Amino acid sequence: MKQIQIIDAKNHVGETVQIGAWVANKRSSGKIAFLQLRDGTAYFQGVVVKNDVSEEVFQLAKSLTQETSILVTGEIREDARSKFGYELGITTIEVIGESHDYPITPKEHGTDFLMDHRHLWLRSSRQHAIMQIRNELIRATYEFFNEHHFVKIDPPILTGSAPEGTTDLFETNYFDQKAYLSQSGQLYMEAAAMAFGKVFSFGPTFRAEKSKTRRHLIEFWMIEPEMAFTHQEESLEVQEQYVAFLVQNVLDHCDYALHVLGRDREVLEKYTKLPFPRISYDDAIDLLIKNGFEDIQWGDDFGSPHETFIANSFDRPVFILNYPKAIKPFYMKPHPTRDDVVICADLIAPEGYGEIIGGSERAADYEFLLEQIRNHGLSEDEYSWYLDLRKYGTVPHSGFGLGLERTVTWIAGIEHVREAIPFPRLLNRIYP
Ligand code: 4AD
Ligand code: MG
Repeated sequence: MKQIQIIDAKNHVGETVQIGAWVANKRSSGKIAFLQLRDGTAYFQGVVVKNDVSEEVFQLAKSLTQETSILVTGEIREDARSKFGYELGITTIEVIGESHDYPITPKEHGTDFLMDHRHLWLRSSRQHAIMQIRNELIRATYEFFNEHHFVKIDPPILTGSAPEGTTDLFETNYFDQKAYLSQSGQLYMEAAAMAFGKVFSFGPTFRAEKSKTRRHLIEFWMIEPEMAFTHQEESLEVQEQYVAFLVQNVLDHCDYALHVLGRDREVLEKYTKLPFPRISYDDAIDLLIKNGFEDIQWGDDFGSPHETFIANSFDRPVFILNYPKAIKPFYMKPHPTRDDVVICADLIAPEGYGEIIGGSERAADYEFLLEQIRNHGLSEDEYSWYLDLRKYGTVPHSGFGLGLERTVTWIAGIEHVREAIPFPRLLNRIYP
């Protein structure tokens, strides 16, 4: 008999098939048992009718406990009452692995309990929906950059440099040298852009930040495109097209996941309209001060209440342009007419989700960059390869980094970034 996956049920209506599944939930009465089945591709209902099967099968169905793994056979039928649209009329059940006292029950559990059981919690329908959205963002990312002729380049994870400053580095031994886990692949991506024109990376990123907020992970995944012969304005256009493309693909391919999460499609549709608004850092500060924020002045970085207020002043993601030089990394291009700001932008997501992209035009001038490296107390030796890029055919170039988990959190409309990655690494957590 043909073994199928639940997601393919629509192609087998009227056929008798076999499915390997787990029992996510069960309810039964005297004459009928409903098994909520999941196989990782989707959830649907299996129905066991007392009069249609042997007494043995019916009793077995009634005795199945949560998360028992089974092989079931039956006929696929349409089921207009469920959002999924199909169900299985079960005829036989074979138990593969028993499951007793499964710790996560349909009742409410506290966050710490769920986090301690993350290896099991991933099986729940809500986590499943979030991971489907994550998977779609990954798929759509590759599609977007391939279609725009970007080459995927993998920068190293063990590195000798600190592109974003030295405060949040994970240090490790590299034989008799020191090394750091990558906090951004950007500098290597700049080298790659000089070799391949347009490149992107997609990899793990590590920040030993002592931040305990709903937006911070210690280990997260970042997409870092880098483009040669590209000024900041064109980079902003790529960024907004990319983000709108991500939202559109989730709308097109994750309808069921959005339904499970209760995410309003109409809200997401607004985020596919281009261009995204832009506001300068200067104007953003003025806007905050005019609206009664007394805890911020020109030169400060935004905290999350500030970002939320700015975001709420627009109905789409908003770019904040040209931050003070003093609060941004050494590699950013200086403003042509002002020496206090740099050519950069952060993209702030709506609804209080905060920054999802940080990017800039890069300083292309050798002398300027050398001076920056010295002023920031960085080692000229360690950065000499990076300086070479400005020695041998330097060009204007720009790039950005999008945080995958922050983007998942926003598009899925969930509370906390810890649910946007399968096994979150947080300030106080590396288990499981
Ligand atoms: O703004 P960041 O630090 O920028 C860079 O690393 C640049 N080198 C990128 C580039 O231009 N190539 O980080 C970029 C994005 C942030 O906007 C945010 O979405 C995400 O990475 N991010 C985090 N996500 C989760 N947890 C953290 N601790 C994060 N830190 C940054
Ligand atoms: Mg940033």
